[in-house]
This record gives sequence, C-alpha cells and structure tokens, in this order.
Amino acid sequence: MSATPPDKVRPVTTATISALKQARRPVVMITAYDFPSGRLADEAGADMILVGDSLGMTVLGFDSTLPVTLEQMLHHTAAVTRGAKRALVVADMPFLTYQVTIEEAVRNAGRFIAEAGAAAVKVEGGVAIAPTVRRVVDSGIPVMGHVGLTPQSIHALGGYRVQGKEAGPALRLLADCRALEHAGAFAVVLECIPAELAAIVSRSLEIPTIGIGAGSGCDGQVQVLNDLLGMGEFTPRHAKRYAQIGDEIRATIARYADDVRGGTFPGEDQTTHMDAEALAAVEAAIEGSAPPATEPAGATGAATAATPDAPSDNEWW
Ligand code: KIV
Repeated sequence: MSATPPDKVRPVTTATISALKQARRPVVMITAYDFPSGRLADEAGADMILVGDSLGMTVLGFDSTLPVTLEQMLHHTAAVTRGAKRALVVADMPFLTYQVTIEEAVRNAGRFIAEAGAAAVKVEGGVAIAPTVRRVVDSGIPVMGHVGLTPQSIHALGGYRVQGKEAGPALRLLADCRALEHAGAFAVVLECIPAELAAIVSRSLEIPTIGIGAGSGCDGQVQVLNDLLGMGEFTPRHAKRYAQIGDEIRATIARYADDVRGGTFPGEDQTTHMDAEALAAVEAAIEGSAPPATEPAGATGAATAATPDAPSDNEWW
C-alpha cells in the first residue's frame, strides 16, 4: 500500500513573511471567511489570509467576536483553505480556546492545522499569553500575536478605542510585543494604536508587524474584507471602502426579483426543453392514467371510493 503524500507546502510560508520584512517589502494580509473569498483573496495576490473571528460580526451577525466558537472557526477556516492555494492562511483562535490552560491551547491550535488546513494561528494578548505562545510554537505551530485593541477583551478595555496613547500603556504594549517575539511568534498584529507607537514597535522587533488602524509605519497591513468591499452598514475609520459591493448585491437581487415577478425570468437562455417524442409519450401516459388512489390498495368498501372532492381524470393535471 502506498503512503499518502503529505499536503504540498504552500508557496507563502512564515519564512516568506519574515523575508518580506528583511527586504522592506510590505506584507499584504486580508480576512476571508469562506471558499469564494479565500479563493479570490488568494488569486488577488494577498500574502496572508486571516480567517478572523471578526467572522462573528461580518458573517454570523453577532455584535462582537465573543460568541464565536471553535467549531465555527474550524468550519470556516477549512472552507478558506480549500479556496486559497498560495497564501499563508492564519486562523484566529476564538475567545476561551487558548486562555484557560496551555494544554487546551495546544490541542485547539493543532485542530486548526490538522483538521482545517491552516498554516498558523493568531492569539490576542502579550506578556500574559507568552508562555502559551511558546508551547504552541514548540508544538510546531506558527503563532501570530495581536496587541493594542484586542476585541476579545472588549469589556475589559471598555470599548473599541485607540490603545497606547499615553506613555505608560505605550511602553507596556512594546513590552508585550517583545514578549511575543521572544516566545517565538512569527508576526504580530497591531490594532488601533497611534502611528508613532506602531513605527517604534516595528523598528524594535525582528518579526513583522501587521497593522490595522496603526498607520503606515508597520511592516504590513491587514484589513477586514467586508470593510474594503463596502458590505457592512458601518466602515471603521481605519478602513477604506474600495467598492460598494453591498449596494451592488442589493440592486442585483432586486433586479432578479423584478424579473421573476414580471415573468421575464427564467427566459429561453435559462430553460431546457424536452425532446418532442419523449414529451408526447409522457403526455399520453398521463392522459391514460387514473388519479392516485386516496387509500392504500386492498382497502375495502366505502374507503376505496373516490372522495367527493377528488378531481376527475381530466382535471387531475
Ligand atoms: O478578527 C479579525 O478580523 C482580526 C483583524 C481585525 C486583525 O483580528
């Protein structure tokens, strides 16, 4: 019996991402949540695709990332990795799948690699999460950190607001990033921090920083796909709407609805016809047939008679 060949390694690896920083070339990362968005982001040339737990808001209709489950993230990550052939796919570990014990974190991170085909996982937090990052990395799983505005801590942070504006929090954020680097993280997301702080952090670290709402001094950028496409009701300040796909989708579905109601869809182009001979045979068979019995065969007496409301042979079709 021949052995199953291992999955081919994707062209973009963590070494590629690190080399981009050395070459001072910006890293491009975008979120995706399903097969088509994974395929399109890949074909568009993104270096990394993040299956973000922003899935909770963009796809599942929650008002935060907190309710997103491990099973939901695995399901969507597997769809993205089926679509993305080249980019490095990073899966977000959802709330409480890595904070409780290190053992659980390793096991759950492993599921993203083994079951969903991701090449790396992302976790939120700095110094406090560094021992977990170390163990996951030591298990052979690349880890991306995430500091600044960390949406899984939204209640502790007191809202979606810029972090690290004062000297104390800014220095703590730098210490968090250093701890992540020291623990073996291959990159770190800086979310919603001042551009000056992001530039300092980016210069201080060997590993690439990937910014979102952190200015242009980061080594790369990540954005939520739905924000770029114009699919949501609200666009955060750090995002740029490159399209109005939401309007386009709504107008397209309205045109389809008009066509159905107006009787112009489906038209000839969307219709198949039966061979005339086969059609004649079907019609002849139907004309010669009796309406279906209302009682099982073998029933006796009044029960076998047609009910008063039953249509006649001619009315049946
Ligand atoms: O979940 C997500 O999409 C993210 C990005 C905002 C970095 O974590």
